[in-house]
Amino acid sequence: MSEESLNGRNYTRPTNKEKYELLKKKNEEALEGGGKERIEAQHKKNKLTARERIHLLLDEGSFEETGKFVMHRAKDFGLDKQHYLGDGVVTGYGTVNNRLVYVFSQDFTVFGGSLSETHAEKIVKIMDLAMKNGAPVIGLNDSGGARIQEGVVSLGGYADIFYRNTLASGVIPQISAVMGPCAGGAVYSPAITDFIMMVENTSYMFVTGPNVVKTVTQEDVTAEELGGAGTHSTKSGVTHFSCANEVECINYIKRLLSYVPQNCEDDAPQLPYQVQGDESRPALDTVIPDNPNQPYDMREVIEGLADEGSFFEVHKNFAENIVVGFARLGGRSIGIVGNNPAFLAGVLDRHASTKAARFVRFCDCFNIPLLVLEDVPGFLPGTDQEWNAIITNGAKLLYAFSEATVPRVTVITRKAYGGAYDVMNSKHIGADMNYAWPMAEIAVMGARGASEIIFRKEIATAEDPEAKLQEKVDDYTNKFANPYRAAHRGYVDEVIMPSETRRKLMKAFKMLENKVATLPRKKHGNIPL
Ligand code: HXC
Repeated sequence: MSEESLNGRNYTRPTNKEKYELLKKKNEEALEGGGKERIEAQHKKNKLTARERIHLLLDEGSFEETGKFVMHRAKDFGLDKQHYLGDGVVTGYGTVNNRLVYVFSQDFTVFGGSLSETHAEKIVKIMDLAMKNGAPVIGLNDSGGARIQEGVVSLGGYADIFYRNTLASGVIPQISAVMGPCAGGAVYSPAITDFIMMVENTSYMFVTGPNVVKTVTQEDVTAEELGGAGTHSTKSGVTHFSCANEVECINYIKRLLSYVPQNCEDDAPQLPYQVQGDESRPALDTVIPDNPNQPYDMREVIEGLADEGSFFEVHKNFAENIVVGFARLGGRSIGIVGNNPAFLAGVLDRHASTKAARFVRFCDCFNIPLLVLEDVPGFLPGTDQEWNAIITNGAKLLYAFSEATVPRVTVITRKAYGGAYDVMNSKHIGADMNYAWPMAEIAVMGARGASEIIFRKEIATAEDPEAKLQEKVDDYTNKFANPYRAAHRGYVDEVIMPSETRRKLMKAFKMLENKVATLPRKKHGNIPL
């Protein structure tokens, strides 16, 4: 300290060296979060700290922090005596594979990562920067929810975030990783974002926890059963990815980012690609069984068509009768939606419809061309489906495809029956190129069902009703269970061999890369939610 005289009064003034020391001390204090003991407790739970997660996510040395010295302003319940620099969330920007991203990472070691007024302000600040600069936001969530001691200002902080999540939707990609508790209204920020990842055994999401559930509904349920990664990746579909551990979770985020553009004005990424021969894939000619009722896994078709090892499945364990995910075709990033006959014969039900609809809308928001692989016997009948609004949910998929303006290509690999033919990116709802394989069956319904309806009287009065039915089934099959009726009408642009499909698709997407399509002027549509 140096002593100086000002207006005859002496005062001590820190030297620059001392000021540098103070900055160093504050920086060190901020890095400690809630202290060594709480960091150890975090590690004991198999969880990384907020800063360790950021370190894993971003390119080495690229992180620049914002709001490192922010402190809460609360005074009640002893908070005036407890201050931690950063206030429970680490925020800033950096790069992932040299591309700019904004990140916030909640620090469970500070008040359990709970969200205070200032904690929320820090998140809002980087979301605003992300919007102005057109880059993705990644949220690493690990929080006990609203900072209970702060009351309504904490709720206000959540709402400020929800509002920005909504305005940013469709402008910049938003990815949420849930790496710890996520309870109460806190779940709604991740829910508005584009993708949620959860870590098995250490994360959960629910509106109310097991204790409240027990009080209200008398159900006994553990946190894991109620809202763990397993539950949300299979039963509810709330999470898109269930990750074995935090490292896998961070790797999934990085991989996901590699398929998506920075913002809605940007093109989807395209990697350099060297064409290999005529790009034919002979193995695809033997994937579809001769018996049309025998299942096969649509993922085999996808693996055969996409660039090797490029398929990145989304929502893998939810509504497995439809497969969605990103892939590359000749280096170009594409979104794939495929009915999967390996599960429930590939039927469309309410979960499959909403799963695919959300994926289609993400791809359309962010200029990612869509490839649809179709093998669908129709919509699933039954009271469960009807009472749980298969009509409204199926309409979501119809709406999502109809509204999509990105390049859209369909390949009918086998069945395309009933309303599902229309829904699955048919020519009539705006698909650009529609192909069918020679074993495609495109009709209102299967031959047996159709014959039983339209020839009921003739069959009932026949001398041998079973033989008559078979005769009608054979007749209907010959007439309709093929791709040629649709091809004669131009509903299918070309009937192609499976082995030549990759080449055709590469050319089609190249041909469509400058596609311009606009929707009628409106405020926004009214998707059947
Ligand atoms: C303030 C909190 C807190 C919170 C945890 N802590 N949650 N502080 N507000 N919401 C503090 C604890 O006091 C403790 O402080 C430290 O964080 C770690 O918490 P523990 O309970 O020791 O950890 P653990 O056993 O792992 O349990 C974690 C937990 C539990 C399951 C999250 O803490 C919990 O149930 N918290 C309350 C969850 C909740 O009901 N939140 C409000 C939801 S309503 P010390 O000093 O001991 O380390 C909501 C409304 C939002 O969020 C609405 C938006 C629309």
